[in-house]
Amino acid sequence: MTRFWVCVAGAGFFLAFLVFHSRFCASRLPLPLHFALKISWRPEEALYRLDVDWPKYSEYFTGATFCVAVDSLNGLVYVAQRGDNIPKVLVFTEDGYFLRAWNYTVDTPHGIFAASTPHEQSVWITDVGSGLYGHTIKKYNSFGDLVQVLGTPGKKGTGLNPLQFDNPAELYVEDTGDIYIVDGDGGLNNRLIKLSQDFMILWLHGENGTGPAKFSVPHSVTVDSDGRVWVADRGNKRIQVFDKDTGEWLGAWNNCFSEEGPSAVRFTPDGKHLIVAQLNLSRLLLTAAPPVGSIGDCSVISTIQLADQVSPHLLDVSGKTGAIYVAEIGAKQVQKYVPVKSYSSSFVCIHLEEIGFW
Ligand SMILES: *[C@@H]1O[C@H](CO)[C@@H](O)[C@H](O)[C@H]1NC(C)=O
Ligand SMILES: *[C@@H]1O[C@H](CO)[C@@H](O)[C@H](O)[C@H]1NC(C)=O
Ligand SMILES: *[C@@H]1O[C@H](CO)[C@@H](O)[C@H](O)[C@H]1NC(C)=O
Repeated sequence: MTRFWVCVAGAGFFLAFLVFHSRFCASRLPLPLHFALKISWRPEEALYRLDVDWPKYSEYFTGATFCVAVDSLNGLVYVAQRGDNIPKVLVFTEDGYFLRAWNYTVDTPHGIFAASTPHEQSVWITDVGSGLYGHTIKKYNSFGDLVQVLGTPGKKGTGLNPLQFDNPAELYVEDTGDIYIVDGDGGLNNRLIKLSQDFMILWLHGENGTGPAKFSVPHSVTVDSDGRVWVADRGNKRIQVFDKDTGEWLGAWNNCFSEEGPSAVRFTPDGKHLIVAQLNLSRLLLTAAPPVGSIGDCSVISTIQLADQVSPHLLDVSGKTGAIYVAEIGAKQVQKYVPVKSYSSSFVCIHLEEIGFW
């Protein structure tokens, strides 16, 4: 009986081969010696898989892991976590080995960014703590030495001075040194600020509201290779897009986030997809990046559904491998999702004669 069904299945495949063959290979290959096997995955299936070996030992996560940053040039992953009497910053390799921890000058980390060029490596942290080091953005070298403090430590933004932050949520630093800051995470300020590498304000959008270029909890920011700045405007349940040179408003995506606003935005290394996290829905959306000159509507290519209450807060993508690192405040861990290599449709034309089928 089993054999019968194997034969039936075999015949089914055989017919499918014939159909695909005539569609895709007929013009090139003579029947009946060659057949085409079309392997195609539906896009919602497995574009990424969880790397269960990252990190090698998860017991280093001892607090609420709020954010993660990748320095793909040096193969390093920085995790910042909150909690009492614990190291606030953990450094791993992209392979999952723990390297070191820092335990000073970070109060309550919210966002983190690793800027890395062949000349300089730096790590930036937005700190929303109310203590001595709070309400600031701090720049460290790769060993954790504090090199720069932006903002007024311990003092919340008044709404008047753009560099007096309230709850600075996240930042993005370009290779040129230009800095994009979203301030913030539900505080008095609802701002997007661009600074030059010597901390001059280049442009700023600074109002609470629902109209174009106004924000409600601007939570994450990233820049694409076409000179556009993408902001997760979480409270307004949309993503807003700006010209990075002029600050001009280019458009907004409202249509994908009716259930919950986006909490994190990062592009894949090829620039084709924008990865968006939704905190309470515990999922990641892979959306199609629009061509230059059109923002249009958002379109979801694929969804990565995480377990209930994992709560992906912020994420980062390795520019080298395309791996997504997700800071999960609910699960109190960072997880790594790696691209499944051959997810695109591909044809394999096989010589049935050669494998002894014919
Ligand atoms: C980190 O610093 C805190 C406060 O100074 C201290 O209580 C704690 O023991 C330190 N933890 C580690 C792992 O060094
Ligand atoms: C921003 O505006 C919304 C309504 O549009 C209001 O509920 C919220 O309190 C405002 N936030 C601040 C910080 O002013
Ligand atoms: C997520 O849920 C919590 C608790 O219900 C709520 O306070 C918070 O505002 C929600 N966050 C978002 C982004 O919707």
